[in-house]
Amino acid sequence: MKDRREFVKAGLALAGWAGLGFKGAWAQGREGAPAPGSASAEVSAASRPKRLLILGGTGFIGPHMVRYALERGHEVTLFNRGRTNTHLFPEVEKLVGDRSDDLTALEGRRWDVVIDNHATLPRWVRQSAELLKDAAAQYIHVSTISVYAPASYDGAEPGSAEEASRRLGEDAPLAQLPDDHDGSEAVTGQTYGPFKWMAEQAARDVFGERTTIVRPGLIVGPDDPTDRFTYWPVRMARGGDIVAPGDGRDAVQFVDARDLTAWIVRLAENGTSGTFNATGPAGRLSMMNMLEEMQQAAAVPSQLHWVPAEFLADQGVRGWTDLPVWIPRNPLTWVRNERAVEAGLEFRPIADTARDTAAWFAALPEDRRSAPRVGLSAAREAEVLGAWQASGR
Ligand SMILES: NC(=O)c1ccc[n+]([C@@H]2O[C@H](COP(=O)([O-])OP(=O)(O)OC[C@H]3O[C@@H](n4cnc5c(N)ncnc54)[C@H](OP(=O)(O)O)[C@@H]3O)[C@@H](O)[C@H]2O)c1
Repeated sequence: MKDRREFVKAGLALAGWAGLGFKGAWAQGREGAPAPGSASAEVSAASRPKRLLILGGTGFIGPHMVRYALERGHEVTLFNRGRTNTHLFPEVEKLVGDRSDDLTALEGRRWDVVIDNHATLPRWVRQSAELLKDAAAQYIHVSTISVYAPASYDGAEPGSAEEASRRLGEDAPLAQLPDDHDGSEAVTGQTYGPFKWMAEQAARDVFGERTTIVRPGLIVGPDDPTDRFTYWPVRMARGGDIVAPGDGRDAVQFVDARDLTAWIVRLAENGTSGTFNATGPAGRLSMMNMLEEMQQAAAVPSQLHWVPAEFLADQGVRGWTDLPVWIPRNPLTWVRNERAVEAGLEFRPIADTARDTAAWFAALPEDRRSAPRVGLSAAREAEVLGAWQASGR
């Protein structure tokens, strides 16, 4: 842990952050750095520009992908209903339709690669893949690690070899629709995962070897509408006494939307096919590693109070929603990602993601900032911490 902290400190000093105070850096952005949410200023052009059709493209991951693709010199076409973030990318061709019942704008056209960002329903993917099977060489479908059947660590110690041996690879068993599923297309906690792998299969059925399936874990960073990862850098920026969940040893995984989408564009450039778990970092990251890296980078004094999972449960505090990113003792928090890393998925430092996420959040309107979608409120956190300290444990 000490080595890691020293590495972070050295990195910050090299980056010229020393003495800036992270709060200031978050608020103002680094000199010479791209604005939060924009693609890196160092992106070079692709050697062979491609014609990319992006289904979606204007929600969360889409804009990061479009910016990177344009910087790489690709020709981008978007297909969506024309409702979300319509102000974005006035220079890009936009085809209007609806995945539910109107794909006519896609007829009679050709692209090199289709990137299907947003679809959950298998029917949506089957219909667009069938329509485009002779119109593009490759179909990239953004899926999720939620496709995997529930798994358990069965008491394997965090960080142990036993835990590592149970990591979920791309061929792990898949989640099934409930036996009593009524055939409806409602996307719920129970149908999301099964629908996503059925959607993957729909793409594979049509595009065969020309299919690329990307299964991200938690996607984070600027523009993330969920506030899950965002909770932590925003909390760090406030400083003071912070409730940290568990004993710090539980694994956590996530991927910055900018790293994910740049990699997807490179998969398109290289014509890479196959199925990939797309989450990070490359090695095992514990909740303690994550929070300490953010804390070091924040330079706003704070103290982490590690409160055991059982005590939090007794207090009605839930992982993932009240204390986000953390899902205690769950194999979905450390899936195998070696295949994606081998295929070029790279991860920026946690401090960078935290800084940019906090800066993005700080610039949102007051009514949005004052109603975060997940996480403990300041009052609730103080109450839980008070109860923990009063327990004398
Ligand atoms: N967030 C996470 O942590 C996480 C984790 C794992 C996997 N994932 C997966 O990552 C992907 C994230 O996608 P995203 O929403 O960020 O993609 P996106 O490409 O940024 O945006 C969603 C797009 O879908 C379009 N759209 C919505 N309904 C449509 C319809 N009926 N017909 C045509 N277009 C439609 C929206 O535009 P209009 O509204 O204008 O139509 C918008 O452009 C999803 O596949 C999700 O399952 C997410």
